[in-house]
Amino acid sequence: MRTMERLFQIAIDGPAAAGKSTVAKIVARHLGFVYIDTGAMYRSLTYKALKSGTDINDGPQLKKLLDETDIVLKHAEDGQKVIVDGKDVSERIRRADVTAHVSQVSSFGEVRSEMVHRQRRLAENGDVVMDGRDIGTHVLPKAQVKIFLKASVDERAIRRFREEEKKGLSPSLQALKKAIALRDKQDMERTVSPLVKAEDAIELDTTSLSIEEVVGRILQIVKERRAC
Ligand code: DC
Repeated sequence: MRTMERLFQIAIDGPAAAGKSTVAKIVARHLGFVYIDTGAMYRSLTYKALKSGTDINDGPQLKKLLDETDIVLKHAEDGQKVIVDGKDVSERIRRADVTAHVSQVSSFGEVRSEMVHRQRRLAENGDVVMDGRDIGTHVLPKAQVKIFLKASVDERAIRRFREEEKKGLSPSLQALKKAIALRDKQDMERTVSPLVKAEDAIELDTTSLSIEEVVGRILQIVKERRAC
């Protein structure tokens, strides 16, 4: 294991559908870093809670369920696979039922502190690109590069719309817009580690930028920080 001082950490935070995971995966691949999608961990717990009938408004019960849940983020060619209790749930945790309830599940302090503990352990083994809502503010406060990605609600809804269409679904743009705005509100207004830009994060508005442009800017920032 390398010492924490020598590890290079990139924290990418921002609201739902701002392009964090797409960009983070590419940046990690370019740099040979490990990509860690923390949203997938909260989604995994939400999936298991829905499946087991656990009350998603009961923090202590959710924490108990999390203690019994093995979540593995496995490196794959296209980013990562999410394995819960030995089962590949990578696709399942992206479905609408999980998306609709994940903000509520992630709002509990006891759930968050266990997740943060697991996320920090994942970051102990090498250079990482980690994306989420509280990475720069809370999980990796000493990250050398902190990026806060944002985009208008309209743009984010259109991106999700196109993603869902590609999967053969028939999404409603209005419904997606409403769901994104609601998730923003819940993530920003929760009392424990709300979604907020870290003071030392660089804000990138991706509304009119391509994925390549966003990746290029982040790689440039990394290059400058590494040269320091
Ligand atoms: O990035 P995502 O959409 O997969 O995240 C799903 C939810 O998980 C998001 O609405 C809020 C929560 N989350 C969080 O609270 N903290 C994180 N570090 C990552 C995600």
